[in-house]
Amino acid sequence: MSHSAPNCTPLVLTHGGVGARPKDRDGCVAASQAGLHCLLDAGDSLQAALQAAVQAVSVLEDDPRFNAGTGSVLRMDGVTIEMDAAVMDSLGKLGAVAGVRRVRHPVQVAAGVAATPHWLLCGEGALRFARASGSADYDPATLQANIKHQELLAQLQRGKRLRHGEENASFTDHWNYPVALAIKPGAPCDTVGAVVRDAYGNFAVAASTGGCTPSLLGRVGDTPIIGAGFYAGPAGAVAVTGIGEHIVRHLLAFRVHEWLAGGMPLDAALQRGLDLFDPAIDVGLIAVNARDSGVCSNREMPSAAAQGPGAP
Ligand code: GLY
Repeated sequence: MSHSAPNCTPLVLTHGGVGARPKDRDGCVAASQAGLHCLLDAGDSLQAALQAAVQAVSVLEDDPRFNAGTGSVLRMDGVTIEMDAAVMDSLGKLGAVAGVRRVRHPVQVAAGVAATPHWLLCGEGALRFARASGSADYDPATLQANIKHQELLAQLQRGKRLRHGEENASFTDHWNYPVALAIKPGAPCDTVGAVVRDAYGNFAVAASTGGCTPSLLGRVGDTPIIGAGFYAGPAGAVAVTGIGEHIVRHLLAFRVHEWLAGGMPLDAALQRGLDLFDPAIDVGLIAVNARDSGVCSNREMPSAAAQGPGAP
């Protein structure tokens, strides 16, 4: 397979998660720039867009201010971190991991899965695959994650509901940790993501998350689910952030891609996707197509774009 003539402006757009702090936008700027350097360095490689998306998300995973990789939230037991990540491009590459522990860059493990006969590995199998592919043992827990967890416990003691539309008991009644129920955290949910367009009109998406709290052990949200948290196809690439249990019900990323494929303007497609949700549910999206890129969310969401030279 080879490219036709370049006719698009290369672009990398990243986000730091719906509900993340706007003052942390510099992390998205750094991620988009790293992704763009990777994209331009890769020249006319067919892998360029995917590699750039993985590079951008790896930078976000290394930034402890975001809920992905280092800085991932603690699960309901206050100890465990389980992470999900996914990659896809418009040329057919697809890989994901769910519930993977003790790796530094879940998105790179997901990219590795794209080279296997499978598309999604989870839990123990994902960890074994990561180690076999060279990912060293790594603890993504941070002091800040522990402090956040304690703050959330304090909120809970003041009677704060853990998640919109759910009784706190719907989590605690189904407790499945190997330790006694002693704590009940609650926190917003966020994810990091990148969408990329190369000079030849190929698209790629990458996403990564520490998941939502509260979460039972083994809970998986939208981030590693194709068509829900991410999608890339001939009409563009879409990355989603927010409460996974709601997002999967709408297959949000695929629907937005299909609206783009039908000719809907990109901003209108993003807004239509957001309008599917009760405003009390945190949701954010980014997308790119051949001409445009955009960001849409119902909470604050840091994002940044980096653009290469225009098409000749
Ligand atoms: N959007 C991240 C999650 O639900 O896990």
